[in-house]
Amino acid sequence: MSTQTALLKVMSDAARKAARGLNRDFGELNELQVSKKGAADFVSAADLKAEQTLFEALEKARPGYGFLGEERGLIEGTDKTHTWIVDPLDGTTNFLHAIPHFAINIALQRDGAIVAAVTYNPVTNELFWAEKGKGCFVNDKRLRVAARTRLDESLIGTGIPFLGHGQHAKFLKELHQISQRVAGVRRFGAAALDLAYVAAGRLDGFWERDLSPWDVAAGHLLITEAGGKVTTIEGEDNVLETGSICAANLDLHPLLTERLKAAA
Ligand code: IPD
Ligand code: CA
Ligand code: CA
Repeated sequence: MSTQTALLKVMSDAARKAARGLNRDFGELNELQVSKKGAADFVSAADLKAEQTLFEALEKARPGYGFLGEERGLIEGTDKTHTWIVDPLDGTTNFLHAIPHFAINIALQRDGAIVAAVTYNPVTNELFWAEKGKGCFVNDKRLRVAARTRLDESLIGTGIPFLGHGQHAKFLKELHQISQRVAGVRRFGAAALDLAYVAAGRLDGFWERDLSPWDVAAGHLLITEAGGKVTTIEGEDNVLETGSICAANLDLHPLLTERLKAAA
């Protein structure tokens, strides 16, 4: 059953609205061939505009909820039990380089727990969504994490640290532990979509450090609702607070964390 509740519809409509602007800007960026500096400014303006669109649409539908966005930080609401956690554009570097792989990411936190999630890829028109206890979907289709149980058959996603961001030496050790044991490792450049791909069974697992709450909040729920397991790389529960994440199905998850521990 893939009927969205009123809440999920609010989130999906907001994502589609912001996506219209991002799609226009993405098309323009491709055609303009703006100078490197100009393109970066153009993309950060697109990012800000998308966040504003999301803020207005969500605030209109659910007045008073708090809003934690990558661009604006935390805007406290009068309703202290609900907070939107939003990345208006995940995969900024892809967007800037005209690579059509980016997403709008929206999660709703209620009393500290993530209860609803939307990850929308405007280029493929894939809307990944989940509500706590109700399963995970892409558009109308129910999703399950992959069924593979062996590391040597698995395709694993990750994020590679980049200039000014992340723990480079630690990452190389982790990659060394994983890459020699799996069928492949991928770095697609949008953590929100990586997590949605784990929920969809496209990737068998994923790990990354130093992410932000807006990168992982939605994907965490997508994966658990698709039957997968999400913890920090150390196997703890506090993924949003630490920005460390390891996700896979129940068979592969302990195998991945074991290899990542061996890298420590
Ligand atoms: C980034 C992407 C990327 C991840 C980075 C994030 P942004 O988000 O999710 O895949 O490796 O750590 O910061 O900056 O494109 O929203
Ligand atoms: Ca992001
Ligand atoms: Ca972003």
